[in-house]
Amino acid sequence: MKKLIIDVDIGVDDAQALMMALSDPDVQILGITCCFGNTPLENVLKNTLRVLKVCNRLDIPVYKGCSEPLLAPKRHAGDYHGKDGLGDVPDPDAPGLELLQKKKAVTALIKMIKQNPGEVTLVATAPLTNLAVAIQLEPSLPKKLKALYIMGGNTDSRGNTTVCGEFNFVTDPEAAYIVLDRYTCPTYIATWEFSCRSSLPWSFCDHWLSQKTEKAAFMKKITDLSMTRAKSEEYQKETTEGQGFNACDTYALAAAINDTLITEMEEVGVTVELVGKYTRGMMVLDYMELLNKKNKVFVIKTVDLEKFKEMLMKSLQ
Ligand code: BDR
Ligand code: CA
Repeated sequence: MKKLIIDVDIGVDDAQALMMALSDPDVQILGITCCFGNTPLENVLKNTLRVLKVCNRLDIPVYKGCSEPLLAPKRHAGDYHGKDGLGDVPDPDAPGLELLQKKKAVTALIKMIKQNPGEVTLVATAPLTNLAVAIQLEPSLPKKLKALYIMGGNTDSRGNTTVCGEFNFVTDPEAAYIVLDRYTCPTYIATWEFSCRSSLPWSFCDHWLSQKTEKAAFMKKITDLSMTRAKSEEYQKETTEGQGFNACDTYALAAAINDTLITEMEEVGVTVELVGKYTRGMMVLDYMELLNKKNKVFVIKTVDLEKFKEMLMKSLQ
């Protein structure tokens, strides 16, 4: 059984990632920690419970985390994910927030990881604020993780939020800096450019979403807005390499639960730019080893897309 903690800012692709984890019988989700990001924290909490309800898994503990970045001004991604973070589809039967755990996300992260030393894989698909605060409180925490999978950052200077910045890193650059400075466990990064290269053809998306299940109907509803936006000429221009749907967070999650998915990666020291006028929040790759980083991360270059599609199909069955 793989023990997972997922740190989310649900978010359409976070929802996809969570549903993929829930569909794998070999995965045990110890808890879901929520962070502000795509949408304000209250929405993230509601959205997480909505996804768990559709999957009949309201037994999984959900924790309330940070509601704002460490230093940066707050930003959200309502244009893409919808104002409510899940495509602005009303849900009168959404579960109430009384189902949340009393313990806060950062405290829970520390406790869950310490109770399972060397066994937990953490998948972070949101700004890294919760994890950064947890590491500040408990610097030995990364040592106790089995692995860390992050969706965020970039390999070139192509941003999706600022000129050079990817949303999760740009939204809390200091948090991303802290995590990439202090991690000591094997760390894998699914960057923005990698996910653009791995986008899913629209024909596959139609096939995926037309499955006759309650989960597929839910996914179709919540992805409608972002898929319409992603299909627009303007967006296709922005992402250049993407000819279809970019399932950002789901690549990181899929790689975390299926070791054989990654087909190419490179090991390199990385950090995050904190001061640049245009480059603040951009991930910096130290190919020349000038930063003397003790630890390197694995930057994912390619994944087996056919395997990934199979996992996506299964996630809605
Ligand atoms: C990342 O930012 C969010 O919009 C997505 O959920 C993903 O985590 C992509 O840059
Ligand atoms: Ca996300």
